[in-house]
Amino acid sequence: MKDLNNKITIAVDGFAACGKSTLAKALAKELGYIYIDSGAMYRAVTLYFLDNSVDINNSESVALALKNISIAFKNIAGQNHTFLNGLDVEKEIRAMRVSDFVSPVSTISSVRRFLVACQKEMGNQKGIVMDGRDIGTVVFPDAELKLFMTASQEVRTKRRLLELESKGIFEYSYDQIQNNLSERDRIDSTRADSPLRKAEDAIVVDNSDLSTDQQLELALSLANQIIEKKSIREKVNG
Ligand code: DC
Repeated sequence: MKDLNNKITIAVDGFAACGKSTLAKALAKELGYIYIDSGAMYRAVTLYFLDNSVDINNSESVALALKNISIAFKNIAGQNHTFLNGLDVEKEIRAMRVSDFVSPVSTISSVRRFLVACQKEMGNQKGIVMDGRDIGTVVFPDAELKLFMTASQEVRTKRRLLELESKGIFEYSYDQIQNNLSERDRIDSTRADSPLRKAEDAIVVDNSDLSTDQQLELALSLANQIIEKKSIREKVNG
């Protein structure tokens, strides 16, 4: 089942705080695949823009800034950490000043081109689970498995609150988080360049009433069916 030749690409898209990263991370762990949080990459670019006062309405400043940005991921004590130009920014990129500015930054086509190119490169070996907004539609349109996650507003707000708390961030109220999520969903789904939408061949998973174990079981069974079919096809084709 884990034969290198039979590795597939898995795209997990959906609205903010739908549990995409929890599922994608667990799925990658079970399959022995790489996990990439593409939202963290948009957040890292946003943090750089904020800290360096980059004017997002000035395309030259944006282009110049992108030349100075390098993003990497490292696993530290079992946790995924995002590095911006060699510095661990995992906590900073979850702060509300970044959450409030990340959707406008994500509408900029040059930012998207820059990050999509990095993401495609990360996925060229297959054996990857990537979560985001345009993974099944733009980054990996040929992904063998595409999931589109959704959940109720209330469940999503509570989940984000808990996620922030688990990272030691306690200063935001329920309402602040709910407003941020709905505003981001609005901008992410209506932007001109690669808006958030379900790929035609994506499977919708509404996880409002599913536990993380139930979601993992479902996704794992879908992935294993595809990996098995691929392995049979490759044997038949020699
Ligand atoms: O997954 P997240 O909530 O951390 O993502 C933060 C923002 O980044 C999200 O509101 C929109 C943007 N994003 C995007 O435009 N495309 C992606 N593939 C991932 C994230």
